[in-house]
Amino acid sequence: MRRSLLAGLVIAGAAGMGPDVTAGPLVERPIVIAHRGASGYLPEHTIEAYRLGIRQGADFIEPDLFLTRDRRLVALHDDTLNATTNIQEVAAAKGWTDRARIVGGRPLYYVFDFDLAEIRQLTARSRGTAGYSRPGNGFYDGSEPFKVTTFTEVLEIAYEHWRDTGHIVGVYPELKFTQALGPAAGIAYLTAMADALLAELADPRWDGLFERPEAVFIQSFIPAVLQYLRPKTALPLVALTFTLPDGSGFPPVPTCPATAEAAAALRAFADGIGVNAPAATEACIGTAQAAGLLVHVYTLTDDPAAYRLFFGRGVDGVFSNHPDIGVAVRNELFPVPEPATAALFGLALLGLAAARRVSA
Ligand code: G3P
Ligand code: CA
Repeated sequence: MRRSLLAGLVIAGAAGMGPDVTAGPLVERPIVIAHRGASGYLPEHTIEAYRLGIRQGADFIEPDLFLTRDRRLVALHDDTLNATTNIQEVAAAKGWTDRARIVGGRPLYYVFDFDLAEIRQLTARSRGTAGYSRPGNGFYDGSEPFKVTTFTEVLEIAYEHWRDTGHIVGVYPELKFTQALGPAAGIAYLTAMADALLAELADPRWDGLFERPEAVFIQSFIPAVLQYLRPKTALPLVALTFTLPDGSGFPPVPTCPATAEAAAALRAFADGIGVNAPAATEACIGTAQAAGLLVHVYTLTDDPAAYRLFFGRGVDGVFSNHPDIGVAVRNELFPVPEPATAALFGLALLGLAAARRVSA
């Protein structure tokens, strides 16, 4: 299933959108996605974390996205700046404290209340919880030279990598939902973000790279935005699944499909699903793949056994905070034939064909 689906995407890309694919993310093996960059080693969503993900051999780099007040896409996981920047110190120093919205007694600084030029004055930090970078890990010394990254910068490093090496490291942007605006304005914010995303991907400066279906996955937890995107793009769409508690205030989010009907409903607007690891049972993976959906699992960290488990269950890809570990296990389980071996194999086939012709 995996091989035929991914090969189909590559053929579609070669036929419809860009130059023939001679180098790209692996099409015969599950992919490793650098989750928020190599966020187990460096502060999440920083350009340094994305670069490290590429160096560690990830097939895709994953930015979560929000729109700033002046409608620029920035790579951040949270709708507020509180957990991963020094906004509180900067707000106090610059007299921005009246920009906070008080929620549960806490001053929260929302991304959409700030212009990009303001956000760029902040320092990006590690979230510091399990699975994310901690000082002294050999990559991150705890000093803070980091900035919040724009989506343009993420595209820039992926594009430069392709231009310089001929090898595609794809981008896997997630359109993030905010509950802070309320349901209707939240969906309008999402669709504005989707439009901004498509415009950025289609910028002529990328020479068509990000219009190729093997170079991009677009993901969201919110089906409405994927349904909005479906008629606008041929790029593969991934529906993130989860089980939310009742009364979460979130628009409905699909769960990992338990039935063929549920999987078919997702397949109507998505090419794949992202499943959180505890829900990624063999049954769910099989049901989804039988409906023609790719299955990517989130989020694995530094335990090689977890990669073995999910690759063993046949997933099409994993989101990884530690891409070097994911890539090492993937390469061990799914080795690529050496070019010399492949060439010898090709010669042997040619020889066989010639022998058959002679005997005929
Ligand atoms: O997008 C897959 C995974 O990243 C979803 O979780 O919360 O890390 O964006 P989150
Ligand atoms: Ca994400």
